[in-house]
Amino acid sequence: MNTIIVGTQWGDEGKGKIIDILSDRADYIVRFQGGSNAGHTVVVGGREYIFHLIPSGILHRGKICCIGNGVVVDPAVLIKEIKDLSSSNININRRLKISSLAHIILPYHKILDQLREIKRTNKIGTTNRGIGPCYADKISRCGIRIIDLLDRGVFRDKLKDNLREKNEILKKVYGHRGFQFKEIYKEYLNYARVLSPYICNTQLLINEAIDNKKDILFEGAQGTFLDIDFGTYPFVTSSSATAGGACIGTGVSPVKIDKVVGVAKVYTTRVGEGPFPVEFPPVFAKYMRNKGNEFGATTGRPRRCGWFDAVMVREAILLNGISELAITKLDILDGLKTIKVCIAYKYKGKLFKEFPYGLEMLEKVKPVYKEIAGWDKTIGKIRRYRDLPLNAKAYLSLLGDILDAKIALISVGSSREDTILA
Ligand code: GDP
Ligand code: IMO
Ligand code: MG
Repeated sequence: MNTIIVGTQWGDEGKGKIIDILSDRADYIVRFQGGSNAGHTVVVGGREYIFHLIPSGILHRGKICCIGNGVVVDPAVLIKEIKDLSSSNININRRLKISSLAHIILPYHKILDQLREIKRTNKIGTTNRGIGPCYADKISRCGIRIIDLLDRGVFRDKLKDNLREKNEILKKVYGHRGFQFKEIYKEYLNYARVLSPYICNTQLLINEAIDNKKDILFEGAQGTFLDIDFGTYPFVTSSSATAGGACIGTGVSPVKIDKVVGVAKVYTTRVGEGPFPVEFPPVFAKYMRNKGNEFGATTGRPRRCGWFDAVMVREAILLNGISELAITKLDILDGLKTIKVCIAYKYKGKLFKEFPYGLEMLEKVKPVYKEIAGWDKTIGKIRRYRDLPLNAKAYLSLLGDILDAKIALISVGSSREDTILA
């Protein structure tokens, strides 16, 4: 079974936890897009691990974890993750595979990310990890790939070419002093040395595994509404975070995909700027942010919080072909008197059940809520659906009805075992 896992909102839905759980039954776990803008949290045995580049299945012994060609790799971040895992006695030898076709993030990408953001009138609120500039170079055909790093001559020429252009832009447009060739060249050749045992043709590896009936889990990063095409552009990331990205970002044909699972949090969060119809008013936002510990796993920034937006999640189900949902953070709703779910938007007196793509409209729509009673029980220790409070079950069946999707898994805490299989 080859399954794609995607976020249905604006990221941070709890994908890391769900992927860790589903990894138990998979043989390969593969990241296909994004970079170290992602922060995927897995909690096992009371210990929290946050992965930025390494797939969230790595804690399962014997599983092969691949970083696909669609990912943009910051070698320094990746090497730190490898070191952190080995100091936690997690053996990744022969288990971590990095695509030779993945593009690498260079120091000028990170600086350009920051400087462009400062100059922009409508700020995106990027993670400053160099993601946008690196993908821009990839599409402009001047990017540097991991395969280039392995050949000193090729790397030298490509880096020189890039620095000639980037330094001029940095100096003339942004008043930055630019970068020295020698420093980057030396630093990155060192990275290549450390990473070389892991680098391979991952498209071949994964396709051979599929031919051998292995189970592949494709780990999405970010979320549907951060997707470069279908997200709330321009307040998005620079990659295809929807299910289609899994094929492009790994070299696996769409006909080999069996299932898409969407991860949805019982309320909505967003980091960075952009429209957010269901956003809570400030006092309640602060209360829920603290209750749900909604602070960025990558940047530590406070996440903006709002009610569950079924208009968005319905759209995500359509765009990704989601047949099953994993619902996360149900425990965070404990103790609320009432819970709201946005079922439609109102704009200029009219009701809209479809997600509007015009940003102007999305900024002005008024959410139409269905409000239901909450529960006062603590549900974190519950492991069977039938033991959930009546109102929690009513809430979940309301979500299932509005979304017209099967809820296959319910998460009631950050740890692996805080999970109910529905
Ligand atoms: P991701 O980017 O989608 O992997 O999500 P993050 O790791 O950035 O953010 C999700 C946060 O919620 C992490 O701190 C998780 O440990 C935590 N989490 C995941 N599922 C649950 C849950 O069901 N309940 C609670 N209380 N926390 C959860
Ligand atoms: P995971 O995988 C939440 C957001 C940033 C910013 C926008 C563009 O942990 O769910 P970028 O640095 O990508 O150019 O920033 O996208 N963003 C995320 N928000 N979770 C993420 O990843 C995100 N990755 C990027 O906050 O608004
Ligand atoms: Mg995250």
